[in-house]
Amino acid sequence: PGTTIGFLTTMENLHEGHLSIITETKVHADIVICSIFVNPMQVGANEDLDSYPRTLEADASALVAHVWNLLFAPNANEVYPNGLSEQTRVDVPKLGDYHCGASRPGHFVGVATVVSKLFNMVQADIAVFGEKDFQQLAIIRKMASDLCFPIEIIGIPTSREKSGLARSSRNGYLSPSEKNTAAIIYQTLLKTRAALEAGERDFKLLSKQGNKTLEAAGFKPDYFNIANPKTLAPSDENDKSFVILVAAYLGSTRLIDNITLFGDE
Ligand code: PAF
Repeated sequence: PGTTIGFLTTMENLHEGHLSIITETKVHADIVICSIFVNPMQVGANEDLDSYPRTLEADASALVAHVWNLLFAPNANEVYPNGLSEQTRVDVPKLGDYHCGASRPGHFVGVATVVSKLFNMVQADIAVFGEKDFQQLAIIRKMASDLCFPIEIIGIPTSREKSGLARSSRNGYLSPSEKNTAAIIYQTLLKTRAALEAGERDFKLLSKQGNKTLEAAGFKPDYFNIANPKTLAPSDENDKSFVILVAAYLGSTRLIDNITLFGDE
């Protein structure tokens, strides 16, 4: 067998979570290619691309700490030589309709398009994606399967701080006190999962309670949804497995997280 190439796609501002994904990828691959590309196609008109932290040099030095890493950092002209308006788009229907797809129109088309381009540019054997972006991972798995990409997609469990807060580049925007508050997201997910485990099936009520807890802690919740982990559609009484997905603003920072509960299917 030849060399196995592992691939991690990122949008800069690498943090411990990314580095642990890279270490995990090395278990499956001989070399790990990490792409850094801030993708204009997935950022909405009302989301400020210019304020996205540019940290390419620091990211590059964090990466070369491991000799088996390669960095691929194309610029926007290389990825989109004809601009965005003429770019062929990859749309994954249904899975992209709910949750973040509903709040950020066009976002997942931008993600699926850039990831399919990056897959073709890099030609890796396996690609790893964090489970923190649960919906994104589901969409990429479906895209890779529907479009017959010869690549294996591996989901990596969410890396968390001691407080339970999911590691994210966006945590860098939080003040120390906001960071303490942010940990309430995971606590609320755990509480909701415990209720499901105890047999609660009033999903609307659970969702309402989740939103209320977050609101009381100072968040502006975007959604707190309980869904089928395969279809991502809202859970119904026949479901035995669940994913609880949340997006909430703390100040102007939008945080997302999720937790799963798998029953006997
Ligand atoms: O998760 C991300 O950082 C981005 O959505 C990705 C997968 C790198 C595509 O731009």
